[in-house]
Amino acid sequence: VTSLLSWDCSVRRTVLPVTSWFMGYAFMTSSSFPLSRLRRLRQSASLRDMVQETRLSASDLIWPVFVIDGVSRKEPVSSMPDVDRLTSDLVVDAARKACDLGIPALALFPKTDPGLKTSQGSEATNPDNLICQTVRQVKKACPDIALICDVALDPYTDHGHDGVIDPSGRILNDETVTILTEQARTLADAGCDIIAPSDMMDGRILAIRRMLEDTGHKDVAIMSYAAKYASAFYGPFRDAVGAGRKLGGDAKKTYQMNPANSDEALREIQMDIAEGADMVMVKPGMPYLDIIRRAKDEANIPLFAYQVSGEYAMIKAAAGNGWLDEEQAIFEAVICFKRAGADGVLSYFAPYIAERL
Ligand code: PBG
Repeated sequence: VTSLLSWDCSVRRTVLPVTSWFMGYAFMTSSSFPLSRLRRLRQSASLRDMVQETRLSASDLIWPVFVIDGVSRKEPVSSMPDVDRLTSDLVVDAARKACDLGIPALALFPKTDPGLKTSQGSEATNPDNLICQTVRQVKKACPDIALICDVALDPYTDHGHDGVIDPSGRILNDETVTILTEQARTLADAGCDIIAPSDMMDGRILAIRRMLEDTGHKDVAIMSYAAKYASAFYGPFRDAVGAGRKLGGDAKKTYQMNPANSDEALREIQMDIAEGADMVMVKPGMPYLDIIRRAKDEANIPLFAYQVSGEYAMIKAAAGNGWLDEEQAIFEAVICFKRAGADGVLSYFAPYIAERL
């Protein structure tokens, strides 16, 4: 070891230029052209496969599903080609399909009847609301699938915000956290495995974790939408759940993060871990790969990326016009989340990908 080290040092001192000093050992392990020809390992599918650094499997995928009231009915989402809103019985079929394909979890989002929406979003805490009914039905028919339920008020408020507002339109943090905690309890009582707060209020993870501990739900996990940005890429989702579209792109900036910020994402993630999150998420996905990498390097916790509705719509629209190769674009986009550091990806392409793996 000593002789190797001294050889290493003497070579660095005598042979390598001063500018490469800081590249140190990394430089020593790679030779330059023509000793190295990086195309050697790209010349055949088998060699490329041998040296592939990142792999995608069905177990990396979480399938977000939109739920509507009724029986055996599906509704297309116009801004998301090939995505349908499903009634609970069809969500059961989707859960069985996910199990068969090796997809471990569904994330459920309701489209609430406009007649049930109020300024306080009270349907969110109704133990018989659409999501609670669906959770019970799916868990009975297909207990092996993990169900992730969103905690936020936007599908339930008549104004479309994730929280409750005062007369001037301000989003009230602590009052909202109280309601979200009740919503989370309702979901846990219904049998949801993973609570996923997507509202971006401060302090909600701690409040929900304490409630779960106190109400006999200590094994219910929390996947926090920790670094969630105020993004234009949620547009099609807001069509799908019939919420918030009329708010415009700017409206959620007092609670969702500024896309220009990166340190703040780390702070959000660290706080949510300290408050009891079991897993964290970065959202949207593709424009935020640097955040995924930083989060993976700096926080030792399972990390998920959400390839959001707008990312789905962009690929489908371009592919639909013949401008992109659909299958290649989808696989490329999703494996890049893993390369960036995500342990898993929420993607509307989940069944499409799993069927082709
Ligand atoms: C609700 C919620 C949103 C998404 C997930 N949960 C929309 C929003 O915050 O406005 C977006 C998901 C997507 O675009 O696919 N709080």
